[in-house]
Amino acid sequence: MRVTGIYEGLWENETESRVSGVELGEREKESEAGPKPGTYTKRLTREGMDKFLIRGGKALQGTVEISGAKNSALPVMAAALLTAEKVTLHNIPKVRDLTTMSKLLAFMDAKVSVTEFPASDYVIEAPTLNHAEAPYDLVKTMRASILTLGPLLARKGVARVSLPGGCAIGARPVDLHLSALEKMGVEILTSHGYIEARVPNHGSRRGRLKGARIAFDRITVTGTENILMAAALAEGETILENAAREPEITDLVVLLRKMGAQIEGDGTSTLRIRGVAELHGTEHSVIPDRIEAGTFLMAGAITGGDLTITNCAPEHLGSVIAKLREAGAPIDIVDKTTMRVRGAKKLVASNMTTEEYPGFATDMQAQYMALATQAEGTSLITETIFENRFLHASEMMRMGAHISIDGRKAVVRGPAELSGTTVQASDLRASAGLVLAGLVANGETVIDRVYHIDRGYERIVEKLRGVGAEIERLHGTVS
Ligand code: EPZ
Repeated sequence: MRVTGIYEGLWENETESRVSGVELGEREKESEAGPKPGTYTKRLTREGMDKFLIRGGKALQGTVEISGAKNSALPVMAAALLTAEKVTLHNIPKVRDLTTMSKLLAFMDAKVSVTEFPASDYVIEAPTLNHAEAPYDLVKTMRASILTLGPLLARKGVARVSLPGGCAIGARPVDLHLSALEKMGVEILTSHGYIEARVPNHGSRRGRLKGARIAFDRITVTGTENILMAAALAEGETILENAAREPEITDLVVLLRKMGAQIEGDGTSTLRIRGVAELHGTEHSVIPDRIEAGTFLMAGAITGGDLTITNCAPEHLGSVIAKLREAGAPIDIVDKTTMRVRGAKKLVASNMTTEEYPGFATDMQAQYMALATQAEGTSLITETIFENRFLHASEMMRMGAHISIDGRKAVVRGPAELSGTTVQASDLRASAGLVLAGLVANGETVIDRVYHIDRGYERIVEKLRGVGAEIERLHGTVS
């Protein structure tokens, strides 16, 4: 296994980063293959011009392999800040958000090494953390940067993290993260767009985070992860009620336990964490990406294909599988890591409401909407997690879908004959929904702003082409 690149405190200014090791060409480093192992040079902001061109109408057939979960990889990388020892992570997907997280950790003086074969292995070492800060320029490109707040406070007793602000899908406040940390003794000031937080007397015997009893007003995934990481090194016991139960939470707990943390209750809504004085290095492989797997299930169903999906965790996809079966698509659970989906004789409409896990994931809502446009009857889709997550609907309507939106409810009447046109991706999962719509549309669909999809889907163009889709990436001109 060869280490080809090391991110070491590589931040120089807003758009540039310092090189050590391999220099990658502009195209190579952020192209359809996703971010490559190695270090990053020059500007990192020009890839936004790429588009996808899809010629619809092909039934997808064959086998597709699922990558590691982005939303697991992000917190486990942040958790590596909790120890001075080496944390080796496997199955990290090659997607842009993980590159951003690498840069963020490197900014804090952690060393992030990315190995070439397989490129999904990361080694993170943070013997010192001289720079307990998540700067605006990184946070604005990835809200999950907030995941460093808990670890920084636990390890350094101080953190300065840019307030994430809203994004296309909603306002997305972090008030629940902050009020929980305050309960653990953290002093927090927000000013000039930054969260400035510190643990009083940190460094002295009395200066640790304090265990606390916390009940979230509403379920928050990254909030739960932040508190888990903070509480792992706190003094005394933390009980977290109304915690998120997503598989990514359990994956983080598994990693933290391997590092020496004492945690019970993962998979339930009450987490009990007994803080320890120190955590140590370990090795961990992140779980498969359930949203990527779910997206391919929808792709097989919507195109009337026959897809075998490997390297996945069907047990994490209960709601999606149930909904697809209800819509008429046969799904076989072949074994613990393999599923097969075939096209329905006829897709039928079915109502769907997004919920926290184990309910139907909001991250699968856009893809389900694409499917609903092809189902016979009326599907009522209710989005309960984010207030503005229907931006893909108007683009699907431009392709001929019959959708009406009223607040958090969308009524989809199908089946509609979709016709290809140029559409804009507005966020990661909306892009996936538009790709699915493009796969069944007549003629050519051009999807603009696919930098959104590159944040979270590894090699999606290659994976789709591998099962027969006519899709290609059109590279935008670099100005
Ligand atoms: C995580 O975001 C995921 N991101 C999201 O995935 C996912 O859509 C979301 O959970 C819901 O499942 C990562 O895991 C990195 P929340 P997160 O805090 O943690 C409100 C994707 O496409 N809220 O669970 O930021 C919030 O506004 C992404 O991969 C507060 O009001 O989501 C939302 O309405 C997008 N105050 C709801 O709770 C808070 O302090 C749930 O958000 C925190 C959240």
